[in-house]
Amino acid sequence: MENPNNASRRNFFKTGAALGASLMAAPAFSNLSTAKEQAPKENNGLPNFTKRRTLGSGKHSLEVSALGLGCMGMSYHRSFVPDRNRMIALLRKAAEMGVTLFDTAEVYGPYVNEELVGEALAPLRKDVLISSKFGFNIENGQMAGLNSKPDHIRSVVEQSLKRLRTDHIDLLYQHRVDPNVPIEDVAGTVKDLIAEGKVRRFGLSEASSENIRKAHAVQPVTALQSEYSLMWRKVEDDALKVCEELGIGFVPYSPLCRGYLTGLINERTKFIASNDNRATLPRYQPDAIVANWAMIDVLTEFGNHRGYTVAQVALAYLLAQKPWIVPIPGTTKQAHLQENLWSAEIEFTVDELKQLTEAVSKITVVGDRYTGQSAQQVKN
Ligand SMILES: NC(=O)c1ccc[n+]([C@@H]2O[C@H](COP(=O)([O-])OP(=O)(O)OC[C@H]3O[C@@H](n4cnc5c(N)ncnc54)[C@H](OP(=O)(O)O)[C@@H]3O)[C@@H](O)[C@H]2O)c1
Repeated sequence: MENPNNASRRNFFKTGAALGASLMAAPAFSNLSTAKEQAPKENNGLPNFTKRRTLGSGKHSLEVSALGLGCMGMSYHRSFVPDRNRMIALLRKAAEMGVTLFDTAEVYGPYVNEELVGEALAPLRKDVLISSKFGFNIENGQMAGLNSKPDHIRSVVEQSLKRLRTDHIDLLYQHRVDPNVPIEDVAGTVKDLIAEGKVRRFGLSEASSENIRKAHAVQPVTALQSEYSLMWRKVEDDALKVCEELGIGFVPYSPLCRGYLTGLINERTKFIASNDNRATLPRYQPDAIVANWAMIDVLTEFGNHRGYTVAQVALAYLLAQKPWIVPIPGTTKQAHLQENLWSAEIEFTVDELKQLTEAVSKITVVGDRYTGQSAQQVKN
């Protein structure tokens, strides 16, 4: 049977070629309404994004769009907070374009990001999947340490369900492992929430291999969401191997290294410290930005020869590693969303992937990805 991905890929190129040809052939004062009628109706004339991937195994699996949408930056940690109504429109547009996985968390804002996602997706709820996360105390609007005590998980889920305007969370992650609560108790609590229908699938974020195994033995884990990009490939040595062995999906967060792997951040870029962790993270300081530019050079060179942008090469590299990897790049712009989704159409040859991997492996990335408490919390 023909692979549906190939079919949609061919249609995508066919449509692109037809559109391109009609644009080139059109006289200067062509009849616009005729051009409109000829274009496919979906997504302003562009074909919808139909690629799908499966996270997790058997009855704990979840079929999702090959890329999800990270919603955090629409309200939190990415400097400027765009107009809320625009973000609601973008979230709905993303669903219309074919994105089915939307990622948020209690702490994004806190709370306001879940509220945004809840309001935007309520009318489309049956067509989309929402992932959210628990695991922190929140005091005076700030994160105040880890908390995965069973009662706390239950109370966070009740509040998240209200903010998300739904009766279930499709994929519920523990945001960070709490060393004070046995991971088996966390998995057991989520197992109960699944039995009650309030949660559909269980996920972990930045958990060690040991904790993944312990949790998975109590409640099968559908996905591990951890940082993974060409600027942070450590998961290739450990987490990806455990996921493969146990049949767990992998969701790379910050797959564009918080915007660096687009080539649009440079040493003059200003981050608004009150709402952007990049203002203090070592990797986004001017010296590191310059020192790491070799990575942008490699991706630019590779992409220029093939007609891809830096961001597309960066995302396609992740997608090419395993069929159960589903990156969740964040964006506040429809143009970037479209660009990112197109990365799923890229299929490297074996030689291309080898060439790209060899080139990026020669680069030593400068600047830690986290510092202080945040660095400690990704070691559990
Ligand atoms: N589990 C965890 O602990 C954890 C931690 C961090 C993040 N996350 C999740 O992962 C998601 C994504 O991570 P992230 O936002 O940290 O990093 P990211 O997806 O690597 O990068 C997002 C940044 O890249 C820019 N961008 C995206 N596409 C672009 C394109 N095609 N061209 C130019 N710029 C582009 C965005 O700006 P524009 O808005 O201008 O496009 C935004 O500033 C979050 O939304 C969140 O859901 C999870």
